[in-house]
Amino acid sequence: MILPESPTQVPDALAFSGARWNDEGLSVRAAVVTDTPIPEESTMTDAHLTRAEAIRSLSIPASLLPADGRFGSGPSRIRDAQLETLSSRYRSVVGTSHRQAPVKDIVARIRRGLAELFSLPAGYEVVLGNGGASAFWDIAALSLVERRSQHLVLGEFSSKFAAETTAAPHLEEPEIISSEPGSLPSPVASADVDAFAWPQNETSTGVMVPVWRPEGTTPEQLVLIDATSAAGGIAVDISATDAYYFSPQKAFASDGGLWLAVLSPAAIERAQRLESGADRWVPAFLSLTAAIDNSRKDQTLNTPAVVTAALMAEQIEWMLEQGGLDWADRRTRETSGMLHRWAEGRPELSSFVSEPAARSQVVTTIDVDEAIDATAITSVLRAHGVVDIEPYRKLGRNQLRIATFPAVPVEDVAALIAVLDHVLDSTAGA
Ligand SMILES: Cc1ncc(COP(=O)(O)O)c(C=O)c1O
Repeated sequence: MILPESPTQVPDALAFSGARWNDEGLSVRAAVVTDTPIPEESTMTDAHLTRAEAIRSLSIPASLLPADGRFGSGPSRIRDAQLETLSSRYRSVVGTSHRQAPVKDIVARIRRGLAELFSLPAGYEVVLGNGGASAFWDIAALSLVERRSQHLVLGEFSSKFAAETTAAPHLEEPEIISSEPGSLPSPVASADVDAFAWPQNETSTGVMVPVWRPEGTTPEQLVLIDATSAAGGIAVDISATDAYYFSPQKAFASDGGLWLAVLSPAAIERAQRLESGADRWVPAFLSLTAAIDNSRKDQTLNTPAVVTAALMAEQIEWMLEQGGLDWADRRTRETSGMLHRWAEGRPELSSFVSEPAARSQVVTTIDVDEAIDATAITSVLRAHGVVDIEPYRKLGRNQLRIATFPAVPVEDVAALIAVLDHVLDSTAGA
């Protein structure tokens, strides 16, 4: 791997992700995404502090509150009906062997359900394993990137995968195309890479990226899409991807701990070839071919998170009953659209993502005027059971971040808007 020799040679894109040169080499793990810092206490005016105090001490009428106050971008709300199955349908399954039919049946339902939800093209397979999307970055760096990858870096999560392939000693330094948080970069055809990587939804900023094969790419160049917060909430043409991977704790309203990936025949072939070569050591836990082999038997390499899998199977089947991915895509367009239209109508608020087409359907980021302390808003809502609308912690903005995954109904988003109107209107004169 070619490493820069001095701090001045750190690629711009990694400088964005907080890359630092230290005694041990290029440190790209301490990713810090900063843009507009939250005002320091000392720079706050009296009016700012008075309004913040008025907001924090507000009592919000119970009649305004949403039925369910969980609006987090992951972990995200789990529907009551899903949770109830743990003590009914799965009462005699949890706590039993994952090599026996009852648990294997849950894995089979996930694989079948996802195949239907994503209308899998011929030869594509649903594969799963333990660890979440972060584990899949390492798996991809070992078994899907052959020599060099290209990454779009537009926020914290996309910078993390780029950091992994940068640090991997068996890979060449990746091509990185970066853009400021809140904006949308585009992949560029390049004959010098064997994989393109970007997130369909950058959860830290609420930017949605189209999924397509960059013009001029050859069948040997894989498209690896981090769909962690997009899968199941945003429409996708799976045939434009070779690995569409995600975690269960977002649109699939489950708990964390598993990764899932829809793999193309080309991706499966690449993994088999790279792992059978003598020149690349792949730890057993990170072996994609072991995961593929086990998934084909509706198993995982080692003991899976069974409760997570059960909740996920329930959510996939519920989504299919509602009308599948088309339904989910329509719902998240509607709920996120409500939030953006509302923000546009209030002088104190503005959509963080200026380009309307790049605004996420599932993670809405709304900037709050610096005259109002957004942390006062999120804390008074938290005190009333409306939780997890804080901005991504490292983004450092005066912002609200509201998830509209398919499990979040229109009525709860309407109620959240009414609550926020109440907070802003009733403290306007403070
Ligand atoms: C876009 C994206 N990629 C990857 C991850 C990492 O997922 P996990 O924590 O399940 O490994 C997240 C987590 O929020 C994410 O939003």
